[in-house]
Amino acid sequence: MGKKEPVRTTDFRLMKEKGQKITMLTAYDCNMARLQDEAGVDSILVGDSVGMVMLGYDNTLPVTMEEILHHTRAVVRGVNRALVIADMPFMSFQVSPEKTVENAGRLLKEGGATAVKLEGGQEVLAQTRALIAAGIPVLGHLGLTPQSIHQMGGFKVQARAVAQAEKLITDARLLEQAGVFGLVLECIPAPLAEKLSRSLSIPTIGIGAGSGCDGQVLVAHDLLGLSGDFAPRFVRRYADLGEAMQEGFSRYLAEVREGEFPGEKESFSMDQETLQKIFDREENSETNQ
Ligand code: KIV
Repeated sequence: MGKKEPVRTTDFRLMKEKGQKITMLTAYDCNMARLQDEAGVDSILVGDSVGMVMLGYDNTLPVTMEEILHHTRAVVRGVNRALVIADMPFMSFQVSPEKTVENAGRLLKEGGATAVKLEGGQEVLAQTRALIAAGIPVLGHLGLTPQSIHQMGGFKVQARAVAQAEKLITDARLLEQAGVFGLVLECIPAPLAEKLSRSLSIPTIGIGAGSGCDGQVLVAHDLLGLSGDFAPRFVRRYADLGEAMQEGFSRYLAEVREGEFPGEKESFSMDQETLQKIFDREENSETNQ
């Protein structure tokens, strides 16, 4: 298959203007990214959710730059068309604008990503501006920001109260003015997300934020049934790969134990004459010793 025209960060705004929904999925490895790209997804986020769905951490805080870099490289190798966005892990951008540019630069230079995402509003404005000034495209992230899990007291719907909703709107406008090319809105009331989306020139990408956003993102493992019992209300299951995998593994184990695998079809043959010669030779050399 030939190379397709890649999706660019500037296409996000064009899609919003045309009323085309933007699709985004998370991926952390080459094959998953290839399958998503072939299915026609617009953008792939190498989310720090990798820590929870692939690395077995309880939350996203332990994820390191090296881990995101490793997974970003793998995803980039599988992609032909989709825009690849790398998540900035906890403490890779909170410390200073200089450190943020250095780390984001690595995600583009060494990881091959086209853009980065970072969580937060007003608090990370200086970092966001520094990135954009350095030519690094930024996707914002407001609402439930999992890196602030301890401050938020758990994975809860955000911006239900007036003051919180007002802060979210102010943050969204600040990020828009700073030049982010899009904004993830996570786990906020749908009517708030819809009204905010309509009032912004940049597209919003919702997760648990209703259908009024300009695009949607989900953690691929959640929609494929690969996250065990973890099932947030905003996820829809499109496949049950977890069950299919368990069934496949169980059948393999049973067939190995019963001697049914491998069969002739999965084995390589050798003619009897050659085989006999080899063993005859071996026997002769043993008797000559
Ligand atoms: O890390 C992630 O996967 C994310 C998405 C849920 C938006 O931040």
